[in-house]
Amino acid sequence: MTNPPEKRATPLPYGFAAMLLRWYGREGRDLPWRKTRDPYRIWISEIMLQQTGVGTVIPYYEKFLARFPDLYALADAPLDDVIEKWAGLGYYSRARNLHAAAITIRNRFGGRLPSDLENLMSLPGIGRSSAGAILAIAFNRKAPILDGNVRRILCRIFAVSEEPRSPAAEKKLWQWAGELTPEERPHDYSQAIMDLGATLCTPSNPACDRCPVANCCLAHKLGKTEELPVRSRRKPLPQRREVALVLVRQGRYLVRQRPYRGMLGGLWEFPSLELDQDREPGETAEKLLTRLGVEGILHARGKTRHVYSHFRLESEVFSAEVDSQAGMIHENSQSSWVPVAEVGSLPMHGAHKKVLQLFKIK
Ligand code: ADE
Repeated sequence: MTNPPEKRATPLPYGFAAMLLRWYGREGRDLPWRKTRDPYRIWISEIMLQQTGVGTVIPYYEKFLARFPDLYALADAPLDDVIEKWAGLGYYSRARNLHAAAITIRNRFGGRLPSDLENLMSLPGIGRSSAGAILAIAFNRKAPILDGNVRRILCRIFAVSEEPRSPAAEKKLWQWAGELTPEERPHDYSQAIMDLGATLCTPSNPACDRCPVANCCLAHKLGKTEELPVRSRRKPLPQRREVALVLVRQGRYLVRQRPYRGMLGGLWEFPSLELDQDREPGETAEKLLTRLGVEGILHARGKTRHVYSHFRLESEVFSAEVDSQAGMIHENSQSSWVPVAEVGSLPMHGAHKKVLQLFKIK
């Protein structure tokens, strides 16, 4: 009996890392987290960069580290302060996870970020790719990364015909990511490949004429850079509607803080109520007013739209002046009347920042 012939592995492009590193030496971006080797700072940058672009992250990174300059400052801070500094970056579970991970690092790892894959991945908010980035960038360990940029690059280099997030592609991509990462200078390599994806190997109109690895890119050779990676057929996001109420009493707005657990946890918002398809917004606004136990004349202020990762939200905005005597809204830890001038500096979620803007304009 003979063994079945081994399936031939796709050959690795020769000199890939060397060409990329030479290019990075010339063209690499000067970014704030590249001025440090402090694992804490690199961890913060990687978490911020998970779902947010470099341009947006930079000022948040600076402000966050000015307030929480080291791991103990973060672990010892109240969660509210962390959320406040995160407000505007979106995907707020990242802020809650950072705080929880900081406490674990303080309590279990003596205040030092672990330098091995398993312990890093045991921390909330750190997946395989972020762990790889931290290991490579902070500890110069040969560890692969596979974020959105790297995924796109490898799908083009190897002309992957499957959807990039399909299990079949995933397995191959991780393998190639590992094999291409060099023993030497993994610190630079991981940032070089991310820069390539961000600046040249972009989702549309990739700049192949300036690409340092174009000569080993199968998609380029086949004229398929615009078609690859294969786009997944995403379903349109579901649409939700709500009524949001701006209640004003003696120069104060009624706002409430969302519970820490769950979507947009810990952020502030105006009172709101989901709007059923077949209901008039005005009717739902009245219902909410009654639920809150106040009386007032409602004014329609128009609508705002906001897109979250899993749904679109349309807010029908109403306002009402509330008599200082009337009403029985109790201030408690979740809701309070906040002076108009101070509401803008509360960490509000994106949809209701727009509600506030709309109300101020009209
Ligand atoms: N995206 C994720 N990590 C990054 C980094 N360290 N530099 C630039 N872009 C990134």
